[in-house]
Amino acid sequence: MIYLDNGATSFPKPKVMLECMYKCMAEYCGNPGRSGHYMSMKTGEEVYKTRKNLAKLFNISNPANIIFSINTTGALNQGIQGLLKEGDHVITTSMEHNSVLRPLKMLESKGVEHTIIKCDRTGSINLRDIKASIKENTCLIVCTHASNVTGTIMPIREIGELAHRNNILFMVDGAQSGGCIPINVVEMNIDLLALPGHKGLLGPMGTGFLYVRDGIELEPLLLGGTGTASKDRTQPKEMPEGYESGTVNAPGIIGLGCSVEMLLNTGIRAIQEHEESLTRVLDDGLRNMRNVIVYGVEDCKEKVGVVTLNINGKSCEQVADELSEKYGIAGRAGFHCAGLAHKTIGTWETGALRLSVGPFNTKAQIKTAIEAVYKITRSV
Ligand SMILES: Cc1ncc(COP(=O)(O)O)c(C=O)c1O
Repeated sequence: MIYLDNGATSFPKPKVMLECMYKCMAEYCGNPGRSGHYMSMKTGEEVYKTRKNLAKLFNISNPANIIFSINTTGALNQGIQGLLKEGDHVITTSMEHNSVLRPLKMLESKGVEHTIIKCDRTGSINLRDIKASIKENTCLIVCTHASNVTGTIMPIREIGELAHRNNILFMVDGAQSGGCIPINVVEMNIDLLALPGHKGLLGPMGTGFLYVRDGIELEPLLLGGTGTASKDRTQPKEMPEGYESGTVNAPGIIGLGCSVEMLLNTGIRAIQEHEESLTRVLDDGLRNMRNVIVYGVEDCKEKVGVVTLNINGKSCEQVADELSEKYGIAGRAGFHCAGLAHKTIGTWETGALRLSVGPFNTKAQIKTAIEAVYKITRSV
């Protein structure tokens, strides 16, 4: 199969990661941070190695500020629900995933208000609109780094600057950007960063993390065993264990660490260049095709490896099925857990087909995908 659904999860995974996970589970996997024997200690050390690799990749000075989660959604919920309280105001955008919009909607009933800034039809945001929405009680701006519907990259550094000038915390959803384009939490003014392990970082499903800058007060979402202060009935607040109650996904986290090490060696810039060149071929090929509508920005420097389209006369689901069944090409049709983003770009009624590239795709695969879409347009 030609896999063009890397926006959902990356495939294939690096062989080194599979070997690393197998070794962990077959040879030493004890419960990290719980016991003093070799297996528990070794697993703890390997989990810590993943924290260190992640810290290096995102310029995080203290690896202990990385809280592991089961996915981006877990990380975003910990950040959003852990920070906000009655009377707070949050600013977000119309290009967000439901893993941001649904927690914010739920928090309305707890007295937390939010403003959603409407982006334009390409998914781009105007900084002036954010500025105009800042209120006395605004304490957080939460924004996706790159849209999962159009790939559009948001001006993160500038939004962070604006937030900090107004004493507002800045949280970034890096689900579509982590591992694909550079992220530097210091240079980009990011206070909290939520990332999946299973997309651009090429780790397994069931992994993700939240980075929290020093000095930020956060209520833990999950309370329970931390392997520390066991006689105390109250939840310890030490990072990271106070926020990682229960047994962590050690084999997954250790596998993620191996993938991240590979990314550190390859360099994110090299991956960015590769994905950008494939995206350009795909975008150009489809944008110029009769009866095809491609959404989002035209300049591929301003987006990650996502190309979203519709074919006149066919539903996006029909096109996705045909691509899969006739041509062996995997894409994703529908609303991508981001209904508001579809409303923003004008596909509220129809949804759209998303083709998303990854580091292991080749130019030949992209050309095959373009030809397949062309053949489908001819059969309308
Ligand atoms: C922008 C964005 N945010 C959040 C998520 C949720 O990620 P996860 O499935 O890792 O929870 C996704 C998933 O596609 C996404 O694209």
